[in-house]
Amino acid sequence: MLLDGRVAVITGGSRGLGAQIAAVFCQEGCRVVCAGRSDEPSDESTGHERMIHHKVDVRDAQSVRELMAKARDHFGRLDVLVANAAVSLPGFVETAAAAAWADTVDTNLTGTFHCVQAAIPYLADAGGGRIITLSSALATRIAPGSSAYSATKAAIEAFTRIAAVELAPRSITVNCLAPGFIDAGMGRQLSADTTVWPQYERRLAMGRMGGADEVARAAVFLAGPDSSYVNGHVLEVNGGLNW
Ligand SMILES: NC(=O)c1ccc[n+]([C@@H]2O[C@H](COP(=O)([O-])OP(=O)(O)OC[C@H]3O[C@@H](n4cnc5c(N)ncnc54)[C@H](OP(=O)(O)O)[C@@H]3O)[C@@H](O)[C@H]2O)c1
Repeated sequence: MLLDGRVAVITGGSRGLGAQIAAVFCQEGCRVVCAGRSDEPSDESTGHERMIHHKVDVRDAQSVRELMAKARDHFGRLDVLVANAAVSLPGFVETAAAAAWADTVDTNLTGTFHCVQAAIPYLADAGGGRIITLSSALATRIAPGSSAYSATKAAIEAFTRIAAVELAPRSITVNCLAPGFIDAGMGRQLSADTTVWPQYERRLAMGRMGGADEVARAAVFLAGPDSSYVNGHVLEVNGGLNW
């Protein structure tokens, strides 16, 4: 088992990609604090003895500090952070609501910052660790209507590279996963919208969406022993996009 003995916090673990990453981490021997905004775990994030649920709002720095403390209080240490929680609130530049813009930035970008900052002392205490942030294929490709989401994801990639250099002396690596169109969560929701999906579907070089398990396996690589000298990297998991 590639993550035996490790402890991970996964934000946005209640559903979609986060829930799948949590499940695969548990299969690999990891103990996981799975975090979402609800008081109770979701159906997708229950059923594994190595997993506990914790309520968090990543927009709130104090709530995030409590989440990291929970990992150490319950499991005794923290080795891996997967800063996965995000929202995608479509809107064209001319008409987008300011509140939707602010919520996207607060959740995706500031939330990632809160999580990384709060995790550092615990990872350092464990003698080093792994941080995995979540970007998207849309960080580097042009999708009208996704300006807030794409801008936060591009910023997360820049943030990741800087955090990687700053934290390397403490044996903490920081890498980023950039999924393409995945048949779970936001990707599945997009694929159900017949007005926009055809323009994305024709970009799929492999002729299919990715599976959440295929993203989770890439997360295991970045959290596990095989990536010990990978740092500041953005790993695209998109099957090749014709874009
Ligand atoms: N699915 C794809 O095709 C795809 C493609 C590229 C990138 N990604 C990225 O992959 C990650 C997961 O996406 P997904 O498709 O699985 O999304 P999703 O199904 O919409 O799930 C989003 C998760 O984020 C949590 N969340 C949202 N706001 C939060 C907040 N303020 N505090 C704490 N948790 C919050 C949600 O928890 P609640 O249960 O509380 O709502 C949920 O668990 C995101 O970073 C996304 O940008 C996904």
